[in-house]
Amino acid sequence: MKAIEVKKGVYWVGAKDWNLKEFHGYATPQGSTYNAYLLMDEKITLVDGVKHYMSEENLSRIKSVVDFSKISYVVVNHVEMDHSGNIPEIMKLAPQAKVVTNTAGKQALEAHFDTTGWQFELIKSGDTLSIGSRTLAFMTTPMLHWPDSMMTYVKEDKLLLSNDGFGQHYCIDALFVKDAKFDVVMEHAKSYYANILFPFGAQAEKALKTAGDLGLDIEMIAPSHGLIWSGAEEVNAIIGNYGKWASGANEGKAVIVYDTMWGATAALADVAMGVFQAAGIPVTKHCLSVKNVSDIMPDFLDAKYVLIGNPTLNNQLFPRVAGFVTYMKGLAPKNKTALAFGSYGWRPGVVNQIQQVFDDLGWQSIPPFEEKYTPKSDVLEKFKEKVEELIKL
Ligand code: FEO
Repeated sequence: MKAIEVKKGVYWVGAKDWNLKEFHGYATPQGSTYNAYLLMDEKITLVDGVKHYMSEENLSRIKSVVDFSKISYVVVNHVEMDHSGNIPEIMKLAPQAKVVTNTAGKQALEAHFDTTGWQFELIKSGDTLSIGSRTLAFMTTPMLHWPDSMMTYVKEDKLLLSNDGFGQHYCIDALFVKDAKFDVVMEHAKSYYANILFPFGAQAEKALKTAGDLGLDIEMIAPSHGLIWSGAEEVNAIIGNYGKWASGANEGKAVIVYDTMWGATAALADVAMGVFQAAGIPVTKHCLSVKNVSDIMPDFLDAKYVLIGNPTLNNQLFPRVAGFVTYMKGLAPKNKTALAFGSYGWRPGVVNQIQQVFDDLGWQSIPPFEEKYTPKSDVLEKFKEKVEELIKL
C-alpha cells in the first residue's frame, strides 16, 4: 500500500480499520483509522505507529516512500496500543532511529514492551527538535488522556500532529474533512470527545491555552484517528468546539436514559419527556435495550438535565442501567441537574444507587422517584410534578 502526501514532504502512512466495531466499549459502527505521519527531511521522522494487527499496512506505506534504515527519529506522541502497538516492529526495522518522547512516554513504553537497545531522546513541553528544513515543537498534554500524551507541531508547515486530540472514530475513503460531510465529521469528533476525553476538560482547556501561549499558528490539524482538519475555517471550528466542550458549559437540554422490563419505567420516561417538551426544553430519550452507551454520551455535552430510569431486577439495578451508570460515572460530566427514577416489584430503594452516583459527581438533584409495579394515572401525575420541580431548580 502507498503513502499519501498531505503536505509537501509530509506523508500519511496510517492504517484504516474498516471493520472495527468497538473500541474498548465505544461502539464504532463506521470503523476507525490509526494515522501515522512520515516527514521527509534531512532527518527522516516517523510520527506515531498503529495498532498491532494493522502493522503490515503501516509498514508497507512507509516502505513506499523510504527504506527503514534511513529513518532518524520515531516520535511517540502516545503509548496507548492503538498508536504504539507496532512500535517494537518499527524499531526492529529501524534500530538506528531514536525514539522521541517525554519521560512518561518512555516509562510507558518500557512498561508495555521490551525496549532493550532502543535509543531515546526525551523532550519536555516547549522543546524543539530540528530535523533539517523543519522544526518540531513538542507540547505535552498530560492526562489528555494518558500521562504520556503529547502533540507535535511542525512549525514550517503550520501543522499540528495532535494524536488523540481532535480525532474521530470514522473511517471513509478520504483523508481530509473537506472531502467528507462536515457536520458528520463534527458529530464523530463530538462523540470522540464525549467518550474518550470528557473527564479531562481541565486538561483540554490547559492544552488550548498552552497552544495559544506558544503562539502556535495552525493551518492543519492531523489527528491520529479519522480525518484531517485543514484551513482556518475547519481548524477554528474544531478548536472552538473543544473549548466549548472542555468548559463544561451546556446548552440547557435534557437527556433521559432508561431501560424497562414490563413498560413501567418506560411510561415514566415518556411522562418526563412530555414535561420537557411542554416546557420547550430540547430533550432526547434513550432506551438502553437498543442504544449503545457511547451513542448516548454526546448528549451529555449539551444537557443540563439528566434523568436515569431503572427497572429493579432481583433487588439490583438492571444490568444495562448499572453498566451505563458505571460508564457515565467514569466520564464524569459536570454541572448537571438530575433525577433518578424507576419501578420495583417488592423492594424499593435500588434507585438510591443512581442517586449516589449523582452525589459522587457533585450534581444538583432532587430525591429519586420510584413506583411499585405499573404506575397508574395518579402516579404518573405525581411524577410529572416531580419533573416540573426539577426544571425549577
Ligand atoms: Fe487513540 Fe489514547 O489512543
